Amino acid sequence: MDLYEYQARDLFEQYGVPVLPGIIADTPEEVRAAAEKLGGVVVVKAQVKVGGRGKAGGVKVAKTPDEAEAAGRAILGLDIKGHTVHRVMVAGGARIKQEFYFSVLLDRSNRSYLSLASYEGGVEIEVLAVEKPDALAYVAIDPNAGIDLAKAKEIAVQAKFPAELVDKVAPVFVQLYSVFAGEDATLVEVNPLVLTEEGDIIALDGKVTIDENADFRHPGHAALEDKAAADPLEAKAKQNDLNYVKLDGEVGIIGNGAGLVMSTLDVVAYAGENFGGVKPANFLDIGGGASAAVMAAGLDVILGDPQVKSVFVNVFGGITACDAVAHGIVGALATLGDAANKPLVVRLDGNNVEEGRRILNEANHPLVTLAATMDEGAAKAAELAHAAR
Ligand SMILES: Nc1ncnc2c1ncn2[C@@H]1O[C@H](COP(=O)(O)OP(=O)(O)OP(=O)(O)O)[C@@H](O)[C@H]1O
Ligand SMILES: [Mg+2]
Repeated sequence: MDLYEYQARDLFEQYGVPVLPGIIADTPEEVRAAAEKLGGVVVVKAQVKVGGRGKAGGVKVAKTPDEAEAAGRAILGLDIKGHTVHRVMVAGGARIKQEFYFSVLLDRSNRSYLSLASYEGGVEIEVLAVEKPDALAYVAIDPNAGIDLAKAKEIAVQAKFPAELVDKVAPVFVQLYSVFAGEDATLVEVNPLVLTEEGDIIALDGKVTIDENADFRHPGHAALEDKAAADPLEAKAKQNDLNYVKLDGEVGIIGNGAGLVMSTLDVVAYAGENFGGVKPANFLDIGGGASAAVMAAGLDVILGDPQVKSVFVNVFGGITACDAVAHGIVGALATLGDAANKPLVVRLDGNNVEEGRRILNEANHPLVTLAATMDEGAAKAAELAHAAR
């Protein structure tokens, strides 16, 4: 889960990372009040989970409460790369002398952590990495050791900070690492980290990604979730503990096991090429226990997507055998009643497959078509979705 800048700022503050005061505001009037409260120069910043806000007009300096209110009026409602700004942060204005870059992230390919840092910040890091690769230091971080002061100094030296600044930025790197480790983050990025005219090091921007797999260790993280911005179908799936991702196509997919579901998406997309380019509508892995309740919850989420025109249920019976899955499907259709209103193509294989097929044939539900193979099922589901367009 990506956090908003103001949430990252709050976390930074808790961990002792130097930040400027920030007040969130949802209306131009609240922006004015915040600017009055902070006093002096403020910066009004769009709170959207996308980069490049500054260039898009989402970051404005205001010298007076009047200017702040006008900035708030200009930024609130702005569309930044498809994200509408509903909230801004009014931050204290820094007198910037120099801008730097620092991040620490999960390095999946090396099963380790990685810190990136540069003395030349203030530009997009992707651009810096291409145009001036020597200016960006890549320092591997042993997750068992983390970033202590010695490691932080090593990062600063490699990032080409001059000697007098190394001692100043290193403690901030240590604090930023403590946010990363303490919150089970997969990314903590500060761009820019600045040196002010007063000689202070301050994190002026913050991007934090939290690892949701560690939520059980962080009861506080639930409050960071932006429920209003979440996709309603994904939220419903989450409530039911379903592993669901909404996609953009018309064939709803239910399968068991992430690998099988991923390959089902591929096979459906491929089959769809023969039927007007229909595509999978979602990823949904119902996991091992394909009980009637789980199947009903899954179907309910998928059928709630108005884009869905047909559903492909592709289940391999293992621990939960095909007869149980078949009972699950029949039970789910009974539970859903009239809410089940799109054709369902079912392909079962594995444990007790004969019995599973017999149960479905016997139930003879008007919406259900059985398919013998995955390819056949994908083609049938794509055909039905195309026909219903
Ligand atoms: N509190 C502040 N005081 C003074 N200047 C600021 C402040 N916050 C941001 N700025 C200036 O605005 C620039 C852009 O701000 P920021 O980095 O927060 O947004 P961004 O980089 O456009 O967005 P993102 O990081 O989401 O891509 C900074 O590089 C900095 O020069
Ligand atoms: Mg930035």
